[in-house]
Amino acid sequence: MVSLLNKKVIPTQGKAIGFVFPVHALTIPIAVKKFIKKTNLNSSEYLFAIATRDGSIFRGFKKIDQLLKKKNKHLNSHFILNMCNNESRHKDYKIPTESDILSLGKVVKEKLDSIQNIIINKITSREIDSNYSYGFPYHPILNYLLEKLVLWGMTVAEYIGGVNYFYADTKCNSCGICERVYLSKKIKMTDNKPIWQKNVLCYMCFACLNYCPEKSVQINDIPGVKSYTKENGRYSHPYATVKDISMQKEI
Ligand SMILES: Cc1cc2nc3c(=O)[nH]c(=O)nc-3n(C[C@H](O)[C@H](O)[C@H](O)COP(=O)(O)O)c2cc1C
Ligand code: SF4
Repeated sequence: MVSLLNKKVIPTQGKAIGFVFPVHALTIPIAVKKFIKKTNLNSSEYLFAIATRDGSIFRGFKKIDQLLKKKNKHLNSHFILNMCNNESRHKDYKIPTESDILSLGKVVKEKLDSIQNIIINKITSREIDSNYSYGFPYHPILNYLLEKLVLWGMTVAEYIGGVNYFYADTKCNSCGICERVYLSKKIKMTDNKPIWQKNVLCYMCFACLNYCPEKSVQINDIPGVKSYTKENGRYSHPYATVKDISMQKEI
C-alpha cells in the first residue's frame, strides 16, 4: 500500500478487493487510511478487510466503512487474525517463542481457509470482535485519545519532549538495514549512522526497530510514556524478510 501512495488516484480492476493490514493503536494504520482514501473502487462488487493484531479490541472496520461511504461502498466482510506482537516498547512485552509462532500459525491457517471460502463465494460475513485477549473499556473519547497518543507519539517526542522518537544506540554497526526497511524516507544514513529526520512522516510500522540486527534501534521515553525497548527483545514475522519490506517502501 505504501509504495502506491505517491499516486493521486490508485486504480483497481478487481471485482473482489480486500485490505489486509495490522492493527495499530486500536485502529487502522496511517498508510491504510491514506490508501483507502486514494483508491478507485468503481469496479468492485465485493469488499473485505482482514486485520491482524496482538489481541486488543479493534473497532477500525467502522472507520473503513466511514471512508468507503464517501465512495458509495461498504465492507461486505471483515475478519480478525490474532498474530504475534511486534510492539516491544511495553513493560510486559514478551518475544513470541517458536512454539507461540507455531501454535498461532496453526489457528491462523485454519481461519484463513474459512476466510478464503467466504471470499471466493462472496458471502457477507462481518465478524464481531469477541475474541480479543485484552480490552479497554470502550469509551469513544478514551479510545480516540489512545489512538492519537500512539500515532502522534513521534510528534510529541520531537516537538514537546525535544527528543527523537527513535534513535540508534552505540551497538549500531552501520549496516543501513533500518534505512532500507523504513517505509518512509525519514531515516537518512549520515556519516554511516541512521538519522531520523524531523518533519518527515513516519508510518509507525516499527520495522526499523524490529529488523535492526544489533537491537540498536530504541524508542525514547516520551512525556508520560516510558519505553522498554532497551530491556526487551524484538520480533518480526519469520517469513517477512528485509528485502520484502524494502520493496514496499514509499517511492
Ligand atoms: C505501532 C504499533 C501499534 C500496535 N497497536 C496494536 C494494538 O492497538 N492492538 C493490537 O492488538 N496489536 C497492536 N500492534 C501489534 C500488531 O498489530 C501485530 O504485531 C501484527 O498484526 C503482527 O502481524 P505480523 O505477524 O504479520 O507481523 C501494534 C503494532 C505496532 C508496530
Ligand atoms: S539497522 Fe541497526 S545496526 Fe544497522 S544501521 Fe540501522 S541502527 Fe545501525
